Amino acid sequence: MAKTLVIQPVTRVEGHAKVTIQLNDAGNVDTARVNVIELRGFEKFCLGRPVEDLPRITPRICGVCPWSHHLASAKACDAVFGVEPPPAGKKLRELCNSIAFMEEHILHFYFLAGADFLLGPDADYSVRNVIGILQAAPDIARKVVKVRQMCAHMLEILAGKAIHPQAAIPGGFSKPLAPAERDQLRKNADEALELAKFSIAFAKENVFPKYLEVVKSLGVIKTGFLGTVKENGALNLYDGKLRLMTPNGTHQDFPYASYTDFLSEHIESWSYLKFPYAKQWGEGFSMDADNPKGVYRTNTLARINVCDFIDTPLAQAELEEFRAKFGRPAQLTLLYHWARLIELLYNAENAIRLLDDPEITSTETRVKVTPRAARGVSCTEAPRGTLIHDYTTDANGLVTNVNMIVGTTHNNAPINMSVTQAAKSLIHDGKYDQGVLNTVEMAIRAYDPCFSCATHRLDGKLSVKLDIFDADGKLVGTLAN
Ligand code: MG
Ligand code: NI
Repeated sequence: MAKTLVIQPVTRVEGHAKVTIQLNDAGNVDTARVNVIELRGFEKFCLGRPVEDLPRITPRICGVCPWSHHLASAKACDAVFGVEPPPAGKKLRELCNSIAFMEEHILHFYFLAGADFLLGPDADYSVRNVIGILQAAPDIARKVVKVRQMCAHMLEILAGKAIHPQAAIPGGFSKPLAPAERDQLRKNADEALELAKFSIAFAKENVFPKYLEVVKSLGVIKTGFLGTVKENGALNLYDGKLRLMTPNGTHQDFPYASYTDFLSEHIESWSYLKFPYAKQWGEGFSMDADNPKGVYRTNTLARINVCDFIDTPLAQAELEEFRAKFGRPAQLTLLYHWARLIELLYNAENAIRLLDDPEITSTETRVKVTPRAARGVSCTEAPRGTLIHDYTTDANGLVTNVNMIVGTTHNNAPINMSVTQAAKSLIHDGKYDQGVLNTVEMAIRAYDPCFSCATHRLDGKLSVKLDIFDADGKLVGTLAN
């Protein structure tokens, strides 16, 4: 008999979502959708504010990714004011970005995704969580918690606080780094590098070989990719040009300020998340997994695919090994985890490189700005994908338009396609259990989505549905507009 399966909430992701799987009369999957059931209104309520407030307001979009919004916002303000921060200002921002990346990638690999691999996809959900990891691998868990705390402390030294920072400002960075602070951070960065080296070696020995069949089969789709590279094609997570790669690996580069010429956003009635797609491919948009149109992915696997090389030695060696095994572009969805660990290594090496640069302690970290009517577009790579902030101001520097495209938003169509593929391949004849449903969730987790960051749909057609339950949990009514 036809039946709807609901996975709610989706666990070990940031933000809130549910999965709806529609089974047909034969008990096989007709459709599967990831419904994002929260909405942030930032694109609307930033209007009318002085633009220099936005680097302080937009980090509140998310408690997990505040640094990404903070830096993208400060960069968009630079563009609005028409200024270029001094080298030390840019380097301090990039250093904060790399440290925030390490904190996030460690969180995801060990605590969000880790339970699926360390305890197994079928483990009971009462232990398939961070507490279960602490019990199963206490030494590793202790090391991981310590380095994450250390990364947060590094950000405090640089910026006064780790969460919802205010240190990046239009025109640069508000606080120069003292030499004694640099020396402390340099020691910390060595410790972070050790954990990064351990993590990828551990995963290559204990995780990927054990789950190779899952990697080869779960959530597999074929799409294009989007990410940032430097002018010379090297991976970069703070600044550069955008590179859009087709599913077959040909690519096109463009300045991020012209993103609207290349990307467009599709809307569906069942999600507060938009569906960006590559409009220059000229095929429109479809997330039919057998014949997708315009669909590209962002986040770790995308960046590892689009870059020509990585300009730090350890990460470059890992990239070469990865490419020799999986080709370019690598399409297997669970390889996001592997790519994440290559990026973890890159960020540790990049933090060391920046801290060894004598310019990092320069006291010239900012330039003055003056309000003007202008439009400014910025882009940074966030741990969860390419992040675009686009602001317009009037002559007084007050905001008249805001558009953001957030990392997870780019991955909306691919996540839905991977979930559909996973559900169709795992659920047959109406048979499923907790392990099967968790394996469907694993296809989502590979993308490390942050749904709270990603929901910015406000198009005037917003629909709200309210279910009313009595004290016994029985549905007694529904209100909808
Ligand atoms: Mg937007
Ligand atoms: Ni977020």
